[in-house]
Amino acid sequence: MQTEFNQYEQQGQHEQLQVYNPEVIVLPTPEDVDQLGATHFIQQVEKKADSTLILPTGSTPIGMYRLLGETYQQGRLDLSRVTTLNLDEYYRLGKSHPQSYDAFMRSEFFNQVNIPEEQRHIPNSEALDPDEEAEGYEQLLRQAGQIDVAYLGLGPGLTCHIAFNGPGTPFNSRVHKVDLDEETIRANAKFFDSVDDVPRSAITQGIGNILEAKHIVLLAKGEGKAVGIQRTLEGPISEDAPASALRLHPNVTFIIDAAAASLLQNQP
Ligand code: GLP
Repeated sequence: MQTEFNQYEQQGQHEQLQVYNPEVIVLPTPEDVDQLGATHFIQQVEKKADSTLILPTGSTPIGMYRLLGETYQQGRLDLSRVTTLNLDEYYRLGKSHPQSYDAFMRSEFFNQVNIPEEQRHIPNSEALDPDEEAEGYEQLLRQAGQIDVAYLGLGPGLTCHIAFNGPGTPFNSRVHKVDLDEETIRANAKFFDSVDDVPRSAITQGIGNILEAKHIVLLAKGEGKAVGIQRTLEGPISEDAPASALRLHPNVTFIIDAAAASLLQNQP
């Protein structure tokens, strides 16, 4: 899909783009972020049972997924018509590795709810040809039509990454294989026995894919995200801070806790 943004980007006319003010909701605690994220998700599915959603991994969405699982177990949520497309996956880690995003999504979310397996999509970590896999995932996104909501986390520290799109990624990027930057590798080492075990590459949706969603919801918690949130919302809109691209989208909501908001000059 060729968005207005992509056309401008190709012409190198960043500065002429329409810039929007995202909705920024600051809540006292990380648990409040989990709760509002889950409430948003539930309301979206109540409004549109066959919603197509982009889903994140990382530690941030775990609380939201747990609450959604509990709501389903209580018989108050039906996800049988939802389609999901995950943001990214480590390349060559192997699906059965406990830290693959495939395994993560099963243990943290999919095993607790009723989204049929054929409606859940994650790039294939085991693909022999990563470029072919990226192209196939791109096709899948195209076939899925317009995404209703893209749920995102924010990368660590100064990376401001969304999915695995680190600094320097073009705003019109599509699904691609990426080599992970050092800061991301260090941050994701918390999930592995040692930093040496963290995969060095991944397959990720591009920023251009994410910007095509009707609504984007970014969740961020903790002081480790404060610098990134400040750069994202108040710094220059620049490929140095990939999440700043979200200010070029008219319908974005940040749901963040007070610690993540602590360095904002303009407190919402
Ligand atoms: C990984 C994922 C990102 C995610 C980020 C944040 O790098 N690829 O999509 O947003 O982690 O991780 P955490 O939520 O653990 O801070």
